[in-house]
Amino acid sequence: MRPSGGGIDVSRQPASGRRYLTVAQVRAVYDRIGRIQDLQGLYERRATNELIAHADFESAQAVFELGYGTGAFARRLLERHLPPASRYVGVDVSPRMHELARRRLDRFADRAELRLGDGSLHFPFKDDAFDRVVANYVLDLLAPTDIGIFIEEARRLLAPGGLLCLASLTFGATRPARLVTRVWEWLWAYRPELVGGCRPLRLTDQLDRGAWSLRHHAVVTSFGVSSEIVVAAQHRHDANPTTTAVAESDPDGECFQLVRARSTSGCSCARRRSRRRRARAGGGQGAARASSGGKRSRIQSASSGRRR
Ligand SMILES: C[S@@+](CC[C@H](N)C(=O)[O-])C[C@H]1O[C@@H](n2cnc3c(N)ncnc32)[C@H](O)[C@@H]1O
Repeated sequence: MRPSGGGIDVSRQPASGRRYLTVAQVRAVYDRIGRIQDLQGLYERRATNELIAHADFESAQAVFELGYGTGAFARRLLERHLPPASRYVGVDVSPRMHELARRRLDRFADRAELRLGDGSLHFPFKDDAFDRVVANYVLDLLAPTDIGIFIEEARRLLAPGGLLCLASLTFGATRPARLVTRVWEWLWAYRPELVGGCRPLRLTDQLDRGAWSLRHHAVVTSFGVSSEIVVAAQHRHDANPTTTAVAESDPDGECFQLVRARSTSGCSCARRRSRRRRARAGGGQGAARASSGGKRSRIQSASSGRRR
């Protein structure tokens, strides 16, 4: 892996005075955490279930994961969701995590490749090498510029039709969760290593609206901790016929969620908006669909804060 400006910048200190962990610190923290990391499954499970339910891993051929930790998510994918001929490649900077994941994925050794990274967020794979790029609870410990670098790299790595699959800590979506967020942010600002270097983040703010369209976006809360889930496709590749599914899981009806490839048929968001306008004016089937608000869930939109 290229030890470049793409790695976590050791010297970067944001204006706020908050500190992002350096690669060396990440290694030290996660080497120390080791298998205790699995306890975070308590609040991560619901979010990763949500990701699995909306990222169609069943049709994936090649998955790349940043920060595989103990390999728990990779094992779930390989055991239950990925087709037998698919392959999985993961990168993590912590030797302890690498060892735990290696043991956990032992029986998938012919399909799963675990790499020990140097912190660089440029990866030695060809363009379009993967059809899923995953990062669960990793972006929330990267500095903002590094998040941007990773997302750009994901764009390069994703083949046409591929999906960026993200889960992250986010801001509290319920009253108790908002209190947890406050305490969490305080700990992070005071001693980031106490919270594994992670802080609440709004994933949708990290995506370039001109480049990505959301296939699924949700916020779930477990044990007082809110997580945001994003499944996104690139506009340039996003011309396949899943528009309806996307529209129906769109949390707040913003253009960002709905814009599709403009190559042949134009932006379906605009069409949808005009359909909604017609529906509001005239009622009928369009009105029923528009007012149904799409897929029902206990999920709350991070960006709108509206309960669905
Ligand atoms: C909070 S843990 C999440 C682990 C796992 N994805 C999960 O959800 O349980 C973050 C992981 O990302 C890894 N990590 C952090 N920065 C990284 C980087 N630049 N490259 C590769 N791995 C990184 C850490 O070593 C750690 O294992």
